[in-house]
Amino acid sequence: MRKKNRIEKIYKEYLSVKENNLNKWSESFFLKLFLDKNIFFVSLNRPLDGYLIARKTLDEYEVLTLATDINKRRRGIGTLLLTKLINLAKKDKVFRIILEVSENNIAAVSMYQKLGFKKISKRKNYYNNSEGFSDAHIMEKIF
Ligand SMILES: CC(C)(COP(=O)(O)OP(=O)(O)OC[C@H]1O[C@@H](n2cnc3c(N)ncnc32)[C@H](O)[C@@H]1OP(=O)(O)O)[C@@H](O)C(=O)NCCC(=O)NCCS
Repeated sequence: MRKKNRIEKIYKEYLSVKENNLNKWSESFFLKLFLDKNIFFVSLNRPLDGYLIARKTLDEYEVLTLATDINKRRRGIGTLLLTKLINLAKKDKVFRIILEVSENNIAAVSMYQKLGFKKISKRKNYYNNSEGFSDAHIMEKIF
């Protein structure tokens, strides 16, 4: 499949996951992002359940975004996506995964901690939304 068609296909998968915000990335942003061969998309056998987008940089993976369908949360889907990423990393001889998460995102922080991610630093006022500024935790998992 041509590269553009392949990216369009994953963009459809990405859009098909229902979330409560309207801030989905635009198709043009997505197409540009995925021109970078180090960016990859992770989904499960049922793509509508959720997605994860990550980047490989040298010898580490970075989670850029991750979400599960708003009506299917707390059923282990986020954990499955991250477990799949960890298994991909091991096969790829990558032994560190990093990510940024808002300190207010209790669900995500708890999930990452449960999977062995540790907080390593903080970025002050990194997020800015309707509730104002919030700090980001930088978390890593080394295995
Ligand atoms: C964060 C998110 C991906 C979690 O996905 P999920 O499929 O619901 O996660 P899981 O079912 O695998 O949950 C794993 C663990 O995370 C924690 N967790 C998940 N949701 C939680 C919540 N609402 N409150 C507290 N802890 C929560 C729990 O420890 C849970 O284990 P348990 O259910 O056995 O107690 C999902 O809530 C989501 O898509 N949120 C919006 C997007 C987002 O915030 N992405 C992360 C960006 S960094």
